[in-house]
Amino acid sequence: MTNILLTGGAGYIASHTAVSLIEAGLQPILLDNFINSSPKVLDRLERLTGVRPILIEMDVLNTAGVTQVLRDHHIQAVVHFAALKAVGESVTMPLEYYHNNVVGLINVLQAMRAADVKHIVLSSSATVYGEHNVSPYKENSTLSATSPYGESKVMMEHIIRDVAKADLTLRYAMLRYFNPVGAHPSGLIGEHPRGIPNNLMPYIQQVAVGLRDKLSVFGNDYDTTDGTGERDYIHVMDLARGHVLAVQHLLSGKDSITTNLGTGQPVSVLHMVKAFEAVSGKAIPYQFAPRRAGDIACFYADPSLSQHILNFHTEFNIDDMCRDAWNWQRQNPNGYETEQPN
Ligand code: WQD
Repeated sequence: MTNILLTGGAGYIASHTAVSLIEAGLQPILLDNFINSSPKVLDRLERLTGVRPILIEMDVLNTAGVTQVLRDHHIQAVVHFAALKAVGESVTMPLEYYHNNVVGLINVLQAMRAADVKHIVLSSSATVYGEHNVSPYKENSTLSATSPYGESKVMMEHIIRDVAKADLTLRYAMLRYFNPVGAHPSGLIGEHPRGIPNNLMPYIQQVAVGLRDKLSVFGNDYDTTDGTGERDYIHVMDLARGHVLAVQHLLSGKDSITTNLGTGQPVSVLHMVKAFEAVSGKAIPYQFAPRRAGDIACFYADPSLSQHILNFHTEFNIDDMCRDAWNWQRQNPNGYETEQPN
């Protein structure tokens, strides 16, 4: 069996990736400190796949511990999800973001070197394109950041590229996510952010289920189709499949890559609200509010490189994203603290 270590493995994107890895005949080993996730996801993964992955409670900052895990489980590739990811929070807590995200990656790379593990998939983000590029974003665009979170992702990419230049046997796949949303169609796993959701879709989900009164739409005076912000939303199961393709790309001996994972189709806030209402049958009350600091009007991916190199094509549309997000939310109003849905 080919063992793949998922750092941050109990998290939103990682848990969905674990399902897709199992379906592809690979064995995910999950490592997580549960700062932003729950070990209860294991019960759901077992119910969904028939496999109960090994879950190790550990911080990626524990280099010796990660080294031992890599050796004990004969890890063939690492998918590095573990990072803090709230843009606004990063502005108020830069040290924690640089420590967890940048030092955390350095420690994982040191552990990989010690354990002779040669393949890494990095969870990167469209945030590395900053605010000066014009959409559709291409991978050779200049990188910049508008927050310590974005800066940490830019640094993480530079670190991996430099380490791979020094050690030609190390190969990587850096995946720049656009806006991941939705949940596994079963409704057994999904996103349950701690506190007030920063992101649009989980906030809409919580309005739909009655946890929030109404959505604030941050700005309706942008130069977009309807004045509200436009983004490239990608279904989390499409994203998960993209990770499997990237792991298989590396394990088959192919060259390192840095690629977008997006649909190439921008969608506005109001369009998402209307689609969610149509799919869920729930009204989503909203009010227009001032623009959010740091937001830009519109960004979306040029998906052609991932299509060409990984043969990656998204299969889920906005209605699928809303359907699966609602199916998860309505069955799990308290996330994994909810009794198992039927
Ligand atoms: C989407 C649109 C908002 C909430 C962020 C990070 C990015 C990545 C994905 C980690 C925007 C509008 C939102 C709300 C709203 N995360 N909105 N009301 O900002 O594109 O990207 O999450 O990698 O790094 O920056 O996503 O979901 O926060 O916002 O009107 O309550 O929804 O203005 O136009 P964003 P988002």
